[in-house]
Amino acid sequence: MTDRSMSDSPTHKLLFVCLGNICRSPMAEGVFRAVVQREGLIDRFELDSAGMGSWHVGQAPDTRAQAAAAGRGLDISGQAARQVALGDFDYFDMLLAMDESNFEELTQLAPAAQQHKVRQFLDFAPHAGTRDVPDPFFGEAEGFDHALDLIEQASEGLLTSLLRNQPVSR
Ligand code: 4NP
Repeated sequence: MTDRSMSDSPTHKLLFVCLGNICRSPMAEGVFRAVVQREGLIDRFELDSAGMGSWHVGQAPDTRAQAAAAGRGLDISGQAARQVALGDFDYFDMLLAMDESNFEELTQLAPAAQQHKVRQFLDFAPHAGTRDVPDPFFGEAEGFDHALDLIEQASEGLLTSLLRNQPVSR
């Protein structure tokens, strides 16, 4: 018998971050949301995504990201891009950078006391062979599928890590 309600566990607040917030981080938010929904744990998570830049604020995810996600049964069309804000470092428990450049910028922006919250997403996918989700924006549709493959691996690893650090009652 499995009880994965995590009813006595606090909420995990996670922010997925890339450069434009229209390709990788919206896909990461969508994939991770589906993973925790599958596990019956969605009530214990607060999920969002944001970009380092402001170019696409207010826009829905890139149509190629929407199509790639739809190919895996995920609807990410309702998301709207926003830029990372200073308050995010206080509010969220973890800020998950899609690549090293995002990680460096986030770390520089973070108040000293909250720098430990900035993580590189693919560190939760140690067998992926890379620490960066490649930016698919200027490439072909295949890049979005490759990004999703990496994001799926990291999403499973991230949930496993969070559950290990905060076991659920069974
Ligand atoms: P993302 O991709 O960081 O995965 O959302 C990009 C989207 C837009 C731009 C760069 C990367 N841009 O330069 O507009």
